[in-house]
Amino acid sequence: MKEKPENFTAGIHNDDYENEYLQTRLDASILVNTAGRKTESLNGKWSFAADLYDTCRRQGWFRQERLNAEGRELPLDFDWESHERITVPSSWNLQKPELYYFEGFGVYSRTFRYAPRVKGERLLLRFEGAAYRTTVFLNGKIIGTHDGASTPFNADITDIVKEDNRITVSVDARRSPLRLPMENTDWFNYGGIYRDIYLVRLPSAYIKDWFVRLSPDDASVILADVYTLNSDGSSSNGKAFIEIPELGICQEIDVKNGKGDARISANAQLWNPKNPKLYDVKLTFNCDASGSNAGSGDCSGSDCRSESNHYVDTVSDRIGFRTIKVKGHEIFLNDKKIFLKGICVHEDHFKLGKTTNEEIIRRTIRDLKEMNGYYLRLAHYPHDPRFARIADEEGVLLWEEIPVYWAAAFSNDGTYADAENQLTELILRDRNRASVIIWSIGNENPDTDARFSFMSRLAQKAKAIDSSRLVSAACLINHHKLLIEDRLEKFLDVIGINEYFGWYDPDFEKLPKILENSKPGKPVLICEFGADARLGQRGTEDELWTEDKQKKVYEQQTETFKKCPYIAGTTPWILYDFRCPRRFNSYQEGFNRKGLIDADRVTRKPAFFVMREYYGSF
Ligand code: GCU
Repeated sequence: MKEKPENFTAGIHNDDYENEYLQTRLDASILVNTAGRKTESLNGKWSFAADLYDTCRRQGWFRQERLNAEGRELPLDFDWESHERITVPSSWNLQKPELYYFEGFGVYSRTFRYAPRVKGERLLLRFEGAAYRTTVFLNGKIIGTHDGASTPFNADITDIVKEDNRITVSVDARRSPLRLPMENTDWFNYGGIYRDIYLVRLPSAYIKDWFVRLSPDDASVILADVYTLNSDGSSSNGKAFIEIPELGICQEIDVKNGKGDARISANAQLWNPKNPKLYDVKLTFNCDASGSNAGSGDCSGSDCRSESNHYVDTVSDRIGFRTIKVKGHEIFLNDKKIFLKGICVHEDHFKLGKTTNEEIIRRTIRDLKEMNGYYLRLAHYPHDPRFARIADEEGVLLWEEIPVYWAAAFSNDGTYADAENQLTELILRDRNRASVIIWSIGNENPDTDARFSFMSRLAQKAKAIDSSRLVSAACLINHHKLLIEDRLEKFLDVIGINEYFGWYDPDFEKLPKILENSKPGKPVLICEFGADARLGQRGTEDELWTEDKQKKVYEQQTETFKKCPYIAGTTPWILYDFRCPRRFNSYQEGFNRKGLIDADRVTRKPAFFVMREYYGSF
């Protein structure tokens, strides 16, 4: 407990007050894979205060000391019961007009009851996303702090939770040059606990994470890695069993010091956009199993685990098996060459902001398929975890990205640690998703030595965590030499290129020259191109902001792509118009209008049909 300051005012002027909250980081090292586990939602109405001066953390509201040491009542500046209520999850900006541009500290609080069901049970508190720095308090104690606006985080609260509990959360939504993204982005900075928050009960020894996929080198072999943990944080030993009934698999995996792995022969139907086959996969773990049948691995008929009298943890997921590789200028899905017919999307909804739901995700995929596409670039940050799950079911391929966007603080160690943590949290969250084929480590960063060091480390980190997928980034064009040229390319499997010829650079003829001049040596994805058009604005095809101009740019771009042998896919910028506080003119009015569909997510612009015809022509 922090020493009380000599006198009351000393506490007010303690400007390094935040250090106390940064001692425990809720980061990737403690992230638990919660797939297939029962969850108990904490969504709903929470007490809320727009805490402009971060008073909650300065004064320690979470300690709730209503009485002083002599039992005298204190005049507290907050009262959870009288604060307004806000819906969790939600982007606070759209909950009431006064909060539309609010980018400060928001303080949430609610109570919940808990009773353990199993002796030795652990209780995990899980956030799927809160923007940006989230400090969590429970029953007057500091749980820890998470950085990052789009990746999950959790905390084991077993030793602090009681029968009646109060959770308090301070969310700092400010933009900063040291954060990722830094303070200048081309999208709206929504704040708050905007994704699900829930509790998960875990046994005393449990499966912390697991990764199951087809071997990148042999499509007849499934690789399984299991990571387990004991309640005291030590790594457990025992037996794990992976079951894929439809493939007749029940394989024992020896777990030593918290890790186990297996190579399993299998003849799986390969997942692909036309046949997105998913298998039910179950994983159980017996901590140092010693029962009569346990460990025999023989699951024929009997439940080979029920004999053991030790803790059993069971998790399950629906997993698709496929391979994704590059060779020369081409990308191969299950050893068949594929052209990635896609488009970019932001997590931005005119009513919900960055908060989403299953209906919105499924409608996005329907719009993509109407365009004859089956690939999405989820820009510029990890989207809701449901997106990759639904993409698995719908046979949509995904590029997922961390927000190392434009000129980040590449020389700042803390910024690199933040980037690596967000990348790791994303990969641990989604690496069992067949739909995800590309991890992108950034977008349109200036080519400096500091950026090169920062991004090449990130590319190698992505490969180290998951060697089964491709690593990419939106790279740079050398506009003087008219050449695709970026030092980062040698660390990438696929080169992403953003180019706006015909729009930001009116001289469209540069694009074919660049494509002719360049010898990339690996596949190139045109991961952004396009033009703004206000819905319904008509004119000549040379008039800016008109649907006619946008349509012409799309016709010129797609005609040019057809002549370039090393373009392996395209994702025009962007499917829907989206909020953007940098866009002020009378056509934009606070929106980026490059969408092929208006922000209403219904009305298509003519360029939408140019893409539909292009993707439908091969
Ligand atoms: C950039 C950037 C996008 C931005 C787009 C635009 O390439 O990656 O985030 O919205 O161009 O200018 O519309």
